[in-house]
Amino acid sequence: MAHDTAKPLRGQRAIVTGSGSGIGAEIANGLAAAGARVAVNYPGERAAADAVVAAIVAGGGEAIAVQADISRETEVERMFAEVVAAWGSLDILVNNAGIQRDAALVDMTAEQWDAVIDVNLRGQFLCSRAAAREFLRRGPDPGLSSALGKIVCISSVHDVIPWAGHANYAASKGGITMLMKTMAQELAAQRIRVNAISPGAIRTEINRSAWETPAAAAALRNLIPYGRIGDPTDIAKAAVWLVSDDADYVTGTTLYVDGGMLLYPGFREGG
Ligand code: BGC
Repeated sequence: MAHDTAKPLRGQRAIVTGSGSGIGAEIANGLAAAGARVAVNYPGERAAADAVVAAIVAGGGEAIAVQADISRETEVERMFAEVVAAWGSLDILVNNAGIQRDAALVDMTAEQWDAVIDVNLRGQFLCSRAAAREFLRRGPDPGLSSALGKIVCISSVHDVIPWAGHANYAASKGGITMLMKTMAQELAAQRIRVNAISPGAIRTEINRSAWETPAAAAALRNLIPYGRIGDPTDIAKAAVWLVSDDADYVTGTTLYVDGGMLLYPGFREGG
């Protein structure tokens, strides 16, 4: 296929869940800059998603805002139908939406547990199933992409690092790893690639308390061998690569984009 290095995703259609802000918004921007049409999913308030769409359109890209609480099956199905109606099919799903509801284990309510598992894990299952069904319905289009379709699951370093006070979150992220790998194994024969990106500490609203004061930021940097807190663009660049044909032989893997957070920085001295 003709390879446009400036726009490697030209003509492709993507859904990025939870892309009204934070990492998702930057992934939406990155995919659009690489030539994809992007559906900016948001769960409730529309204004932020509209702003992401407006910025993409102002930059010469194409985007629409699509509402769905991804933990609800009927809303997910309706969102995918809307995107397919608008653009004919779908080539890329980025399962980005995620929430945190922090509590010590002994204080955690069943509702806090369920809320996080429902969005972070059930939501990724529901969206991935809908995407895979659409890829299979559409069939191959080698002019657009070597794979039939691509799914990226946004996980976290807490898919391997235990995290006190966040049992629901860590469990959901650990679950995403095996969901991703199982989907990759199951769908590889149909040329659907499924991978994960596990971000470390990225400067967004979800972890504002961890970086907003100088003392908190210094303590956080102490956990990051590379010495800086991550930026959403660090994740967006990895996502663009993973869904491009440059990563055509990559499936079932997790790319840790974490400035070395997984390198046990506590062991830089001693041990
Ligand atoms: C969490 C952030 C946290 C980071 C590193 C992420 O998955 O959402 O709140 O700062 O992991 O611990």
